[in-house]
Amino acid sequence: MSSGTGLTPAELAAQPEEHNRLAEGALLRADDITAGYLPGVDILSACNFFLRQGEIVGIIGPNGAGKSTLLKTLFGLIPVRKGAVSLDGVDITSAKAHVLVTRGVGYVPQTQNVFPSLTIEENMQMGIYLRSKKFGERFDVVAGLFPLLGQRRKVKAGALSGGERQMVAMGRALMMEPSVLLLDEPSAGLSPMFQDQVFVRCKQINAAGVSIIMVEQNARRCLQVCDRGYVLDQGRNAYTDSGPNLMNDPKVVELYLGTLAGRSEKPRGS
Ligand SMILES: Nc1ncnc2c1ncn2[C@@H]1O[C@H](COP(=O)(O)OP(=O)(O)OP(=O)(O)O)[C@@H](O)[C@H]1O
Ligand SMILES: [Mg+2]
Repeated sequence: MSSGTGLTPAELAAQPEEHNRLAEGALLRADDITAGYLPGVDILSACNFFLRQGEIVGIIGPNGAGKSTLLKTLFGLIPVRKGAVSLDGVDITSAKAHVLVTRGVGYVPQTQNVFPSLTIEENMQMGIYLRSKKFGERFDVVAGLFPLLGQRRKVKAGALSGGERQMVAMGRALMMEPSVLLLDEPSAGLSPMFQDQVFVRCKQINAAGVSIIMVEQNARRCLQVCDRGYVLDQGRNAYTDSGPNLMNDPKVVELYLGTLAGRSEKPRGS
């Protein structure tokens, strides 16, 4: 498993030189990015990431590793201090979230991802207020994927279960017909049945042509559905490889999959 350098293949692939070689022609890529919230405190440092057209890429790692920070940085919610982000070969390093939405990037945050006092239909309208004339057409597509959203369109999102709210959040992001969808812990806190539904839906959304980046606490399940995965630790991508290879990497198993598998999960009323 180990190379002459003592690094596993997944560790080698996370090295900057390998990243630069493999990320050639990627749809979305982040090169050597540093970002953080407070002045002088970097959460991501020298972080590399790429997503190819048509892929589902998973990001796993311990609590506080910077997974949500990476998604927020890709989506323009946190400024990039060093390094570069590009989408389809165009530099988007300083682009703001509302611009990225019009460029085909959708984002579902980890928490507070629905408007609880609005109905399902109104939540969907919020998702497409930039192109409100297309509401009916897009709502039909999204309700085809999540029938509950059509059936219960007049129900307030706050009255829904955790699993149902997650559908609203994903549906809202899909209203703008994104080519890239960033999902932050879509299965967190859901009952096993709803968790599985989330992964099945992600596969369907991906099959419909949407490339997906998925941060997940359910690491093994995530690596099963992903084309590739990254293990993020202390703001850096420490390992990257195909899902099965990461699940079989002895260091990844020892350091991350064991720990993550033991992480307590509290269903949030689904
Ligand atoms: N708004 C914020 N202001 C300051 N620091 C923050 C903020 N949000 C997150 N952090 C810090 O950034 C670090 C990374 O947090 P982040 O939320 O990206 O981790 P994560 O990998 O998503 O963790 P989790 O698995 O718990 O969701 C943590 O040390 C956290 O305390
Ligand atoms: Mg997080």
